Amino acid sequence: MSAEVIITQDVPFAFAHLVKEACESRRESDRFSLALSGGSTAYSCYSQLAKESIDWSVVVAVWGDERCVPLDHEDSNYALAKAAFLDQVTPLADVHPMDCTQGVDAYESKIAGLAPLDFVHLGMGDDGHTASLFPGSPALDEPEHKLVVATGDDLHPHPRMSLTFSAINSAELVAFTVMGKNKREMFERVQNGEDLPATRVSAKRVVWIVDPDVAG
Ligand code: 6PG
Repeated sequence: MSAEVIITQDVPFAFAHLVKEACESRRESDRFSLALSGGSTAYSCYSQLAKESIDWSVVVAVWGDERCVPLDHEDSNYALAKAAFLDQVTPLADVHPMDCTQGVDAYESKIAGLAPLDFVHLGMGDDGHTASLFPGSPALDEPEHKLVVATGDDLHPHPRMSLTFSAINSAELVAFTVMGKNKREMFERVQNGEDLPATRVSAKRVVWIVDPDVAG
């Protein structure tokens, strides 16, 4: 299944529209599970998402990865999403922060209860990582039944928790959002199929939303 690539000057706008479209196309009675990312691109995307007219009462927010810091820490992905959009919209059906203090198993059972996730938002680092699945990490090769993993490395801040590829690749839709010239080379390498963490994402539908600086 080849991925779709959307090249746009306004990545956050395209992202927010895709979330709205996916949410509105779910089965009427169902909730809509949305896995959130971290990073500066995610912040821009969530600020735009807050402007979309979405029925937030059907949305369940989880995280694709998290730094193991307090949830109000400036480096927390929960704190990022809270500031950018959770505090700007009407209450969601449910919000499940990825809390390292609760441990991997607790989050694993939350994700197992929601899987397959409807929408997973991912960024991509300039080393080809996605979520907190870093190049060369044992977390890249978790057994199929594992949905959440404790991970991290010396090159990236803080110990982490992350969804595994098994959890990500069972999703209905995965959307990457990538901006900036510094990501161009890695985007090309991933598109060429080089074995990098981002290349291993192969959900039912994968959409790359990139700006012209990335696309080249
Ligand atoms: C994290 C993210 C990470 C991020 C990429 C892109 O916790 O840091 O989940 O995977 O999405 O590193 O980040 P930027 O958008 O800031 O380049």
